[in-house]
Amino acid sequence: MNDEPCAVAVLGLGPMGRALAGAALAAGHATVVWNRTPQRAHPLLDRGAALAPSAAEALRRAPVAICCLLDYGAVRSALDGAEGPAVLVNLGSGHSGEVRGMAGWAAARGIEYLDGAILTPAPTIGTPAATILYSGPRPIFDAHQAVLRAFAADPLFLGEEVTTAAAYEMALLDLFVMSTGGLAHAFALATAAGLDPAAFARFAGGIGALLPEMAHRYAGNLAAGTFPGQPSTLGSASAALAHVAAASADLGVDAGPLHALRALFDRAVVAGHGGEGYARLARFLTDERTHR
Ligand SMILES: NC(=O)c1ccc[n+]([C@@H]2O[C@H](COP(=O)([O-])OP(=O)(O)OC[C@H]3O[C@@H](n4cnc5c(N)ncnc54)[C@H](OP(=O)(O)O)[C@@H]3O)[C@@H](O)[C@H]2O)c1
Repeated sequence: MNDEPCAVAVLGLGPMGRALAGAALAAGHATVVWNRTPQRAHPLLDRGAALAPSAAEALRRAPVAICCLLDYGAVRSALDGAEGPAVLVNLGSGHSGEVRGMAGWAAARGIEYLDGAILTPAPTIGTPAATILYSGPRPIFDAHQAVLRAFAADPLFLGEEVTTAAAYEMALLDLFVMSTGGLAHAFALATAAGLDPAAFARFAGGIGALLPEMAHRYAGNLAAGTFPGQPSTLGSASAALAHVAAASADLGVDAGPLHALRALFDRAVVAGHGGEGYARLARFLTDERTHR
């Protein structure tokens, strides 16, 4: 292994880290990689990457280190003993509190820190379909454009509040897991009722197609602070959830997620919002949180 300086270090070689390192190499950047299980680096070494014996060493070898590990606990453990001056861009998933902790941890060690959130799957990295959000110090984002553009042609800077990218990622992940979980539950209900999954899929796709208009309408309602009960109300949503929960119980499909969701709607209905639209639930939940 040589120990020449590189243009970029990539820490973590899961599916996403491998895609990032591969995109850096494809863009012509000399790349040093590190992974807890070094064997995963072999295909990248064949493509010209260097392998560092530790994350701290990889950080020393390049002007910018891109980190993409399972979670923030893994980042802390991988970088135990690392010191600045160095620049760390963390693209792994985590919530705002973890990002704030990481930024403080980095600052205490003289490491400059930019946070990022990857919104698209590993195969999109290095293609026009990649979307990556960044937040934190603007000078770091500007200084490392050549590397960041290897991952996504149009890296999006959201501002200097370091937690913003993670806040977007978590809210979008909320939408993703709740809607895909709902889709899986709906297929369970359909197949338990003897429906053909392919025939069901034809109609299920139509529900997804409603979301873009609803997202813009909810945003407008939240901005205006008014929640018209058209075309549907929280009261009717609660009744619909009761129907689906009963249907699930009738067919022997776990109705737990429906009861949990209905409990949220019902709290808003009991508080007097039953005649208002769904966006009121978003306002109700955030208001509830401030009164806890
Ligand atoms: N995959 C995607 O399409 C995608 C999309 C958007 C965001 N992300 C985010 O990107 C991050 C990485 O995802 P991924 O799909 O590449 O795989 P992952 O399974 O989330 O993470 C795997 C990586 O984390 C390392 N790791 C786990 N625990 C560790 C520890 N305690 N100490 C050191 N290293 C540790 C693994 O090392 P070993 O190889 O040694 O196990 C491997 O490098 C995640 O935060 C994920 O949410 C992924």
